[in-house]
Amino acid sequence: MLRLETVSRAGMRADAVNGVSAPMGNRILEKHSIADGIVRLEIEAPKIAKKRKAGNFVVVRANEYAERIPLTIVDSDLGRGSITLIIQGVGKSTRFLNSLCAGDEIADVIGPLGHPTPIDSFGNVVCVAGGVGTAEVLPIARAAKAAGNEVISIIGARTRNLLILEQEMRETSDELYVVTDDGSYERKGLVIHPLEDLIFEGRCLDVVFAIGPMQMMRAVSELTEPYNIKTFVSLNPVMIDGTGMCGGCRVVVGGQTKFACVDGPEFDAHQVDFDTLILRNRAYIEEERIALERFETEQIARFEGLV
Ligand code: FAD
Ligand code: FES
Ligand code: MG
Repeated sequence: MLRLETVSRAGMRADAVNGVSAPMGNRILEKHSIADGIVRLEIEAPKIAKKRKAGNFVVVRANEYAERIPLTIVDSDLGRGSITLIIQGVGKSTRFLNSLCAGDEIADVIGPLGHPTPIDSFGNVVCVAGGVGTAEVLPIARAAKAAGNEVISIIGARTRNLLILEQEMRETSDELYVVTDDGSYERKGLVIHPLEDLIFEGRCLDVVFAIGPMQMMRAVSELTEPYNIKTFVSLNPVMIDGTGMCGGCRVVVGGQTKFACVDGPEFDAHQVDFDTLILRNRAYIEEERIALERFETEQIARFEGLV
């Protein structure tokens, strides 16, 4: 196991198991808004770009006062020494990151973390993604295709303005199905509907990778289990260090406690205790609401020149 070190901007040394990081702040090279509240950031991180594999993520701390949050490495560019993150602004930290501009620096970007996705010559692989989960599924679809699999992808969003990466998913998939909950684009419905069709048509599906909201991953898992279709989900518990030390990302899989950051983030869907995970993820909802409210008030005050 590789053990490399990272030095945070505040000058503190922090070990990252399996990880490397740029020594000081990581510069944002490009920023693009790709959907309502969803931003693509290309960040300078040459060492991470060299080592990352599908399924890896980084833990990001926007500045020395910020909390740490995990984000999937969607892509990398060795020539530019950069990684791409796609971030949906759901709370204080993600909205703050999405308010940064090209040229700004992010204090710490630690990674690559987590086990790479177990990619093999499976045969027919189905990649199912809901919402920003498409950003997490794209590198898996690309890796599955590169390994010689037939890739069938299903992507969905609540509404057209929240749909991301359709073109990229189309380019890497042999078949692509697009759904929106409200029917504002392509088929009206949920991502499990095209998956149900494929199963009922008797298509041979060897492996399913599903990433998105917890209820969506649970629905996919419940659909595939009776048909014994191997299914992986990428779990999203609250993570702090991302290196197996804090225990914040505890999940129950197959009756055993696992740490999603070092044992996952992908697990056998049919073994996951979704109820416990959903409960744990709601534990700080009030604190998160207050933090977001304060952040928005500060942003408005800054905009109005009061701060
Ligand atoms: P908050 O208001 O603090 O929280 C909103 C919700 O996000 C919470 O209710 C909780 O469910 C979840 N959350 C909060 N803090 C954390 C945390 N430290 N770790 C994990 N979840 C948290 N989001 C993306 O937009 N793009 C990605 O590529 C992406 N990849 C992820 C990869 C992994 C392995 C994991 C575990 C999560 C990923 N997420 C991704 C989710 C992202 O980390 C959360 O949306 C983010 O941490 C929310 O922080 P916040 O302060 O903006 O929101
Ligand atoms: Fe701390 Fe996984 S995030 S143990
Ligand atoms: Mg937060």
